[in-house]
Amino acid sequence: MNDAQRILDLREAIRRHDRLYYVEARPVISDREYDALWDELAALERANPGLVTPDSPTQRVSGEPLAKFNRVRHDPPMQSLDKTYDKADLAQFDAFLRRRLPEGTAWDYVVEPKIDGVSLSLLYRHGTLVRAATRGNGVEGDDITANVRTIRSIPLTLPCDAPTLEVRGEVYMTREGFAALNRAEEEAGREPFANPRNAAAGSLKLLDPREVAKRPLDAVLYAAGALEGLAFPTHTEMMRAFAQWGLRTPPWQRLCLDLGQVYAAIDELEGLRHAFPFEIDGAVVKVNQRALYPTLGSTAHAPSSARAYKYAPEQARTTLRAITVQVGRSGVLTPVAELEPVALAGSVIARATLHNADYLREKDIRVGDTVEISKHGDVIPAVDRVVPELRPAGAEPFAMPARCPVCGGEVERLEGEVATRCVNPECPAQRVGRLELFVSRNALDVAAIGGRMAEALVQAGLVTQPLDLWSLDPAALAAFRLTAEDGTERRFGKKAQEVAAALERARGLPLHRWLFALGIPGIGVTAARVVAAPFASFSAMFSDPLFDDVLAFYEATARKTDDRDLLAGEIVTRAQALAARGLLLRDDPEKPFRDRFLLTVKPEMAREMAKFLRSAHARRVAERLAGLGIDPKPVAEAPVGAALAGKSFVITGSLSKPREAFERLIRENGGTVQSAVSKKTSFLLVGAEPGGGKYAKALALGTPQLDEAGFLALLAPGEGREPSRPVEPEAPAAQPYVQDDLFGGLS
Ligand code: IVH
Repeated sequence: MNDAQRILDLREAIRRHDRLYYVEARPVISDREYDALWDELAALERANPGLVTPDSPTQRVSGEPLAKFNRVRHDPPMQSLDKTYDKADLAQFDAFLRRRLPEGTAWDYVVEPKIDGVSLSLLYRHGTLVRAATRGNGVEGDDITANVRTIRSIPLTLPCDAPTLEVRGEVYMTREGFAALNRAEEEAGREPFANPRNAAAGSLKLLDPREVAKRPLDAVLYAAGALEGLAFPTHTEMMRAFAQWGLRTPPWQRLCLDLGQVYAAIDELEGLRHAFPFEIDGAVVKVNQRALYPTLGSTAHAPSSARAYKYAPEQARTTLRAITVQVGRSGVLTPVAELEPVALAGSVIARATLHNADYLREKDIRVGDTVEISKHGDVIPAVDRVVPELRPAGAEPFAMPARCPVCGGEVERLEGEVATRCVNPECPAQRVGRLELFVSRNALDVAAIGGRMAEALVQAGLVTQPLDLWSLDPAALAAFRLTAEDGTERRFGKKAQEVAAALERARGLPLHRWLFALGIPGIGVTAARVVAAPFASFSAMFSDPLFDDVLAFYEATARKTDDRDLLAGEIVTRAQALAARGLLLRDDPEKPFRDRFLLTVKPEMAREMAKFLRSAHARRVAERLAGLGIDPKPVAEAPVGAALAGKSFVITGSLSKPREAFERLIRENGGTVQSAVSKKTSFLLVGAEPGGGKYAKALALGTPQLDEAGFLALLAPGEGREPSRPVEPEAPAAQPYVQDDLFGGLS
């Protein structure tokens, strides 16, 4: 056989196995056999470069990183769905269809999971994937073809010769893939993603397809856009055709003949919520007869033939077996509910925080009660209420202990504070807590002292303060015996070397990691970065009155009554001094004086930092660090670059990373961030679901708009971290998409 034919056969075989593996999840050959096919194809293509075609499986990851994404127009537009949380609205939907459609029209419904991902359009021409795009504003999106080609379940060719087949669906990241990605992000010192949807959106917006290929992305296709040369009478038939061509379709679908069946399907799906590898946030109810869609029409943003039904956050009932009290590293006593284990939102819950004594009293929570629990923010279990009818006789209100349950020392509750605290700084619970924080991943990341090791070291008296770690004798540490959960004893052994290596590495970690590690009240991961930024080093913080200056600034602005008074000059001078230290986020002279300035450092941060720097504890830490030859420095933040100099930004909508990350990027590159759109705003940075007010104002003023990719392109080259030669911003590619209702309050 000649090379050309063998290449074609190998490609066909690899496509078939890709489909069996990625789409149908039933591989028929081993990874090794697959790799062998792949290697043979790659070798033949290397030998015959003229025979390489873009639809070859070897060409999924190819091309250079882009400077920015091109914009593409959606025809028809990519719409959204009308949402409801209430089944009664679905009855109204049914009644609406009855009114709208000619008498005697019959239709049925399809119920599908509503996948919580990022909408996607795939354009196939004569069976070849020629374009993939994000939804963008619905009328225009980004051309992300190179990125989408890296998703292995998306076929580069289809056995369908229609001139135009545009399929639409959702790109998502599996829960598992998301967890793994976030672990890696955090380890690399980057901000973790807020949820799988943000992670998927952020991944698709990367400009380098090679990076995208490393992200665990997948896609499901559930709708059609433009169609030429083919038509489907029903949604179910369309899904069948998609599946036959090798496109992944929703893994669960129900055909429902009436509203009763729709309700039943919605309930069934809700029970399966956590069985899917991706997150779902509801059900989509679609009219099955596609032929009826033109008659049904659509509103400005949603088709009239479908509705989204969103699921409420889940709740469960269980009994409260006991209330225990934990002591945290700052000595705070936290009551904890010990529950009869119960399944909730995909996991088994046996404990939940009860916050503090006030919370217990307000909710009147007593041991023996039947309680309702839910997951707040979909992760942290909380007790929402008790079911009073089910309270057993003799259940008594809970009283916080009068002494610390760990050290037996005194506890106190300060005026105006909800927390009860153990006041003994030598309390082992506090020592263990401080050590655990110190070695945690976002702090100094001494992984070998995880689990029970911190507690054991404190109990054995080897460590009382975290900095004692540097005084530990390596041999003694290696010989240290740790009792495992099952009661067996093991020597710490080789792990001692890991500890030593981690401590050595910690010497060079940036200042913000150290500040976070020290457990200063109110200084979390993000605040630590903010307060570290203006200083040259840890030791330099002690002789610098910056935090007092910040507090004085806040006091002055709080005292200020009108714009003409004498304080105005003083405030401006103070603001300028703080701006010189890089602390000024916003100076918007159009605002009333009190809101004119925005600082990176919030007053609470400044107060806690000022207090910490004056404490005897901080001075001891500084002395010991000096003795160890450690003086942490802030990360070399990119010097203020010219790329965004003189440009002011307002941000609206949700972006792929927390807003602070974008604000930081803007400031690092010399731009300023404002909270509201004014005539002076250079750009509106628009994320998903932009807030009406800013968006409408920007439209009214003709403020140029940027999406995330457009914004990053301003910071070219690469990721935009390093400021570089100034890049002239382009005019926004085209008219922004305007929903009719946005004009309501304008003109
Ligand atoms: S049909 C006209 N089916 O939900 C839009 N959408 O909130 C046609 N979504 O923008 C959408 N799962 O990104 C449809 N099974 C599903 C879906 C689904 C998730 C998304 C879609 C849409 C958003 C609306």
